[in-house]
Parts: sequence; C-alpha cells; structure tokens
Amino acid sequence: MVYLVGFMGCGKSAVGRVLARELERPFVDSDERIAEREGRSIEEVFRESGEAHFRALERELLREIDPREAPVVATGGGAFVDERTRRRLLATGHTVWLDVDLDVARRRVGAGDGRPLWSAGDPAALRELYERRSTVYALAEYRVDASPDDPRLVARRILDLLPAD
Ligand code: S3P
Repeated sequence: MVYLVGFMGCGKSAVGRVLARELERPFVDSDERIAEREGRSIEEVFRESGEAHFRALERELLREIDPREAPVVATGGGAFVDERTRRRLLATGHTVWLDVDLDVARRRVGAGDGRPLWSAGDPAALRELYERRSTVYALAEYRVDASPDDPRLVARRILDLLPAD
C-alpha cells in the first residue's frame, strides 16, 4: 500500500488519483470514504461529534483497507499525527510525505471551506499547527517536494522513489 500523508493543501487527493492510475492500483480517499459512510460531511462530523470521534473513524477506516487490493491511499492531514494510525501506516505500506511550504498550502486551500481545522485558527495558530505537524510527517518513509501544482509531476517524483514491487 502507498499512503500519502501531509498538511492540508499538499495535494494528497489529486496526486493520489494520478499515482493510482499510473500504478494501476485502486485509489482510496480517506476523507471521502468517511463522509460517504457517515452520510455527512467532514465538517459536520467535527461539529456534531468532535475531532476525537473523527480520528476514531479515520483509524477504523484505515484499518479496514484490504491489503490485497494494495491501494494508493490519500489520508487526511491529521491521520499520520494520530500515533496509533501512524504506527499502522508505517507497518503496512510505504508512507510518502508530500511536503509543501505553508504559503503554497494557503494558496491552494484558500478560506479553508470544508476543513474545520483550517478555518478554526488564526494565521499564527495555523503556522504553529503546520510546524508541529511537520516534525511528525518527517517520520514518513519518503518525502517529496510537492510544490509543483501539476499533480502529474509530483506523482512522477513518487514513482521514481518507490521500490518496484
Ligand atoms: C484534517 C485534514 C482534512 C480532514 C479533516 C482534518 C487535519 O483532510 O481530514 O478536516 O487534521 O489536518 P485534508 O488534509 O485532505 O484537507
């Protein structure tokens, strides 16, 4: 399995889709699956049930992915920061950190609609979250510079890094 991790706006979903196509593997978007299962948006899950509940749903979903399907998985920005989830991802696949500057993420995410943790904080709080998270994302097996806006370029970089198996 290939798990894409990184901050909001780093391109996990867009790059994941391209990468899955290139590798001829299924693609799983963790947030999308959670929203589908719950029948409500991620924003609603946060608002109505809280972040801890969302993390539990995320943990559960990632645990249930069938390794035989060997999908490419776009995780949510906080998944890898949850210790139990991180251990599982590190143990069951290749983890790739899509690294972008906060300014790039800001430009892509804009006002942060639909992303409760983005819109909740002021710029200083967002910077603090970004810095704190980056030290955790650095524990991923691979790191790629995900600043190109074309997801095909970023996917190519990942293909060059991954061992052929
Ligand atoms: C989150 C990132 C979001 C989503 C949720 C929480 C986070 O995913 O999982 O809003 O904690 O960083 P993206 O990284 O796809 O925006």
